[in-house]
Amino acid sequence: MANRAQFSSRIGFILAAAGSAVGLGNIWGFPTQAASNGGAVFLMVYLLMVFALAYPLLVAELTIGRYGSADPITSLRKVWPRQKALMGLVGLAGMIAVSLILSFYAIVAGWLLGYLLAPICEAVGLVSLAHWLEAFGSGRNLILMLVFMWLTVMVVRNGVADGIEKWSTRLMPVLLLLFVVMVVYILTQDGAWNGLKLYLIPDFSHLSPKLIVSAMGQAFFSLSLGVCTMMVYGSYLSKSANLPKTAAQVALLDTAVAFIAGLLILPAMFVAQHNGVVIYDESGALLASDTLVFSVLPTMFDTMGPVGMIVGILFFVLMIIAALTSSISMLEVPVSCAIEELNQRRSTAVWWIGGLICVISAIIVFNFDALFGRVVTTTTAYAQPIIGMIFALLVGWIWHRNKVLQEIRKGYPAVASSLFWRIWPWYVRIVCPVLMLLVFFLQ
Ligand code: PHE
Repeated sequence: MANRAQFSSRIGFILAAAGSAVGLGNIWGFPTQAASNGGAVFLMVYLLMVFALAYPLLVAELTIGRYGSADPITSLRKVWPRQKALMGLVGLAGMIAVSLILSFYAIVAGWLLGYLLAPICEAVGLVSLAHWLEAFGSGRNLILMLVFMWLTVMVVRNGVADGIEKWSTRLMPVLLLLFVVMVVYILTQDGAWNGLKLYLIPDFSHLSPKLIVSAMGQAFFSLSLGVCTMMVYGSYLSKSANLPKTAAQVALLDTAVAFIAGLLILPAMFVAQHNGVVIYDESGALLASDTLVFSVLPTMFDTMGPVGMIVGILFFVLMIIAALTSSISMLEVPVSCAIEELNQRRSTAVWWIGGLICVISAIIVFNFDALFGRVVTTTTAYAQPIIGMIFALLVGWIWHRNKVLQEIRKGYPAVASSLFWRIWPWYVRIVCPVLMLLVFFLQ
């Protein structure tokens, strides 16, 4: 395509890709998983997964995208031109997975909207509305999900530079700063140290195959891998950007946010426990694991006195924006395919695809107990790693080595003589697939 949009600056891209990566996965997924899987051991395995597996695959996915400079289906076909039908199917699988992810993601993001609006309603006297917004229920979940999906559609409708980049650039740094302030506060509260101990002092008796599979899925989810999102973002990346370095910055930022979120949320849970909230049942399983992380936070804001309300509002606003910079990157995948493969207008594509995802999401809302956990696990613990592995196999085995080198060399002329290049191609070719197979067989 002649005039394909690009990110206007390198930092704009890093923040947009980091915006995709940083989201509910960091402040909801990661702390929930850490709290239910023995804390520090989960943290350690997670870090290992991010650097040993997710980072090299992030480079692979971005490289396919930038090489193709097109929607994922076309980009994949450029990597293996002789297998157009097969590559179409792989792209389709990514698209279905990302749409399912968005359909549960929007439900969780809707809860954030509820927690944001509830104290405001209460302050202006709408007490029963405030209760409705905070209490788990299908009607409330449905309406808040629809509001969040509407926001996502509105941003994606405006396209790359105007929509995606503008949002991400301004708000990510503010979010980080707020997190640090809250961590400092929570650590001064009674009970916080028990959470900190669980989070930082490993107890290896928790190590299990389930923990390892969960940590792998969480790493893929957090870095938005295996669903063509990073491929689409890579396709908007300028040819002069140093790809391995950019990817490293994104991975580091994402991991830093997850780590800091854990530093806040695990102690906050134990402070809540100290104040009488039951967190674990007798068997040691996390109670209400879907919603616990969020309900613990309003309790924390309540203890902060008068500033609590302001901190709470600021936190939920920033979190909703972080979730939005992730959800727009999900919707961009099917939308870019509809625009470039079906020649549709962006404004048409966002509405029907957004509508379809709302329908799937509504089905999950009304069958929450039966479907929610299942959709989360199938997409994040299985679909993402498996499709991610297919991308690794494509780059490692199918793509001509020189072409990969050429693509990476565009923003990184010294790549051929660098240590990165000596390791990475073999790593993606052999180590990544073997590691992933091992993890799956372990189960
Ligand atoms: N990485 C996002 C998060 O942590 C979720 C996501 C998954 C975004 C897959 C895009 C694709 O919240």
